[in-house]
Amino acid sequence: MDDRLQRVREQIDREVSRRHANRVLHGHPSPLFWLDQDIPVGTVMEHRRTTRLVFPTRLSLYVATPYCLPTKPDRCGFCLFPSEIYRNQEQLDVYLRYLGREGEMYSRFFEEDRPTSVYFGGGTSNLYKARQYDQLLAIVRRMFPRLPPGTEITLEGVPQLFTKEKLVAMRNAGITRISIGAQQLADEMIKMSGRKQKGSQVLQAIAWCHELGLGSSVDLIFGWPRQTVEGMLKDLDTVVQAGVGHITHYELNVAGRTDFARNRRPELPSTDQNVRMYRASAEFLRNHGYAQVTTFDWEKTEADTLRYEDHWYRRFAHGDGAAIVATETWAWGFAGVSVFPGTPGLPGWSYMNCRRVEEYFARIDQGRFPVERGFHYTEKDLRLMILFQMLQCLRVDLQLYEKLFGVNLVDEYRDIWPALQERGWVEGSERQLTLVGDGVFYTPLIQGLLAAERLEELRKVKFSNRANIEAESDRTQEVA
Ligand SMILES: C[S@@+](CC[C@H](N)C(=O)[O-])C[C@H]1O[C@@H](n2cnc3c(N)ncnc32)[C@H](O)[C@@H]1O
Ligand code: SF4
Repeated sequence: MDDRLQRVREQIDREVSRRHANRVLHGHPSPLFWLDQDIPVGTVMEHRRTTRLVFPTRLSLYVATPYCLPTKPDRCGFCLFPSEIYRNQEQLDVYLRYLGREGEMYSRFFEEDRPTSVYFGGGTSNLYKARQYDQLLAIVRRMFPRLPPGTEITLEGVPQLFTKEKLVAMRNAGITRISIGAQQLADEMIKMSGRKQKGSQVLQAIAWCHELGLGSSVDLIFGWPRQTVEGMLKDLDTVVQAGVGHITHYELNVAGRTDFARNRRPELPSTDQNVRMYRASAEFLRNHGYAQVTTFDWEKTEADTLRYEDHWYRRFAHGDGAAIVATETWAWGFAGVSVFPGTPGLPGWSYMNCRRVEEYFARIDQGRFPVERGFHYTEKDLRLMILFQMLQCLRVDLQLYEKLFGVNLVDEYRDIWPALQERGWVEGSERQLTLVGDGVFYTPLIQGLLAAERLEELRKVKFSNRANIEAESDRTQEVA
């Protein structure tokens, strides 16, 4: 035990100053391991029906839009989400038709459902013309005519495209909350992303939301090239003074072939500087009456309760009195990531829709579900997935975990928790483990430690699959 604990300590020492990828989406396992190409959507839905007899579920609905305004550098220089370049209105008209057709393919599966939240994301969901928001909501209501009154319906977009006319149209169509992707408020900072966006447009959009009775949320990023603690606090203060109810404060995820990853590394604050930014932002937001509801979500609220809900199926599982409720996400449209977790006895699937629009259209034309690939959970993966999501919500409910899986979580990772406690990252009680202090910032590192063994297994499967495919292709060439 002491040896293993020592190894965990050394691993933390090695990783604590390293830049970690995947700060935005902390899922298990990473889509790098989603190797199943023929997702049996009918079976997934059949499992889901069985699951719902055992576990009450909530369905959150995510609706994607693929397109984004062109930028130089492309993809805003930092973005890792799939998207395609917006060129003209016709793209959106065509896309809405296909969205409706994908809906028809699923409608028989969702006859009984009433989603508890709806999120229009992307890409850029405020590219539509004002008249099209009615159409967008009509497509959703055709599928789900019984949306409960008061359902939170959020639409996210870039500041410069939120005109007052559009916001009125959104509200009239039934949207209740607007999420504004600001990232940075200072014009010289946002310029690095190539976005033609002004800080004043963010403030104007917030003011219109207030005037129209729409809820508002703002996304900001810290760890941006050349950013200082002072600059970050200035942005936070501006948004707080504007009376925004919800702030999402992400650490910049630097990965892939983005412009920031390739060309701006020397300008990026180090991980140690990012920790200092995280600490300063957390203190600032707490002092201004915001409660932290996830690793990066802050909500202006009287009570420190977890009432926030959105497209990231964060509240995967929690105790609702005696019942255990699982949250499912159906992601509709281009590149959407759906999660139907199933039960410990009958684990379910995650899968993503096609990440190229042409492919998305082509599959629908062929009468096939537009799914690219996915992952069928084992029980161990389901345990890790729930654990990751609980960590993302800052608290791990030990009793719920034991009730779901019959496993004592403290014993399961007994070599890891003490190392985290020594660092002051985790506090424990009979009922729960809580991420505290810098532990919240280091959530991805902690998740990596917990999933290390399983990820090693998945890596082996991935490499042996690749080797098999290569051997198969060699054989085919020999025959040819
Ligand atoms: C998928 S984007 C869509 C929103 C909208 N298109 C926009 O750019 O504002 C949702 C949010 O993800 C965050 N995001 C995207 N790429 C990121 C990255 N590399 N690191 C951190 N956050 C990122 C941004 O804060 C963004 O507002
Ligand atoms: S950050 Fe937003 S606007 Fe920019 S490429 Fe990503 S999704 Fe599109």
